[in-house]
Amino acid sequence: MSTAKKEVKRVTTHVLQKMKNDGERISMITAYDYSMATIYDDAGIDVILVGDSASNVMAGHETTLPITLDQMIYHAQSVVRGVKRALVVVDLPFGTYQGDSKKALKSAIRIMKESGAHAVKLEGGAMIKDSIERILKAGVPVMGHLGLTPQSIYKFGTYTVRAKEDAEANQLMKDALLLEKIGCFGIVIEKIPAELGKNTTESLSIPTIGIGAGKHMDGQVLVSHDLLGITKEFNPRFLRRYLDLYTEIKGAVESYITDVKQRDFPSDKEQY
Ligand code: KIV
Repeated sequence: MSTAKKEVKRVTTHVLQKMKNDGERISMITAYDYSMATIYDDAGIDVILVGDSASNVMAGHETTLPITLDQMIYHAQSVVRGVKRALVVVDLPFGTYQGDSKKALKSAIRIMKESGAHAVKLEGGAMIKDSIERILKAGVPVMGHLGLTPQSIYKFGTYTVRAKEDAEANQLMKDALLLEKIGCFGIVIEKIPAELGKNTTESLSIPTIGIGAGKHMDGQVLVSHDLLGITKEFNPRFLRRYLDLYTEIKGAVESYITDVKQRDFPSDKEQY
């Protein structure tokens, strides 16, 4: 029997580009810790996003705004330790890149150096062009994020579908083309009409990853806690739940509590 380790071929930004060129869909999921990242990677996911949605699902905040760069780095370090194959992308949190491209570069460099992740993601188009360009010039791959950008929730006022009107749809297309031109390797596009998702995907040569952007995107991303049914109040139309882990976990813990109370656990076999 051979003892040689099976070599894992890593997903890189070039692999993602080839997938788009070949018409192969890209799968992406969020992760925030080592154990879950290991499972997603073993399952064969292409991209793991250490999303600032950690602010919601890990820390219990209402928005993504409070999470800090240090906290994102902690999550990213944990995820990177669990991943052998997937490309790991980390969100730059709110307040660490807008309006000051030097600060943006410093934030991106901290993430890359301290976590070992492979790329960063920033929300916005023309408004943050300088920050993206400076990060790219330092050799750090950048993923864009357009459409519903949760860090701007107080500007939007609601989490409803974006770019339903021509003006916003045209601006989104302009921003997408700009992000491609300056060198982003891909763009997440969130909660827009499927027709606009299709037009954007067909107009760009880099991969588009949709969340609530319809079936014509080059790839799809979901927040892991939503997909697994850990969050139960969040039920947008675009979400497909593959498990009801909230109920499963609650049931398991209820059984454990009962066993402890009834002195059924530990049994004779479960002690030394
Ligand atoms: O932070 C996040 O989870 C994200 C996804 C919604 C794409 O940015």
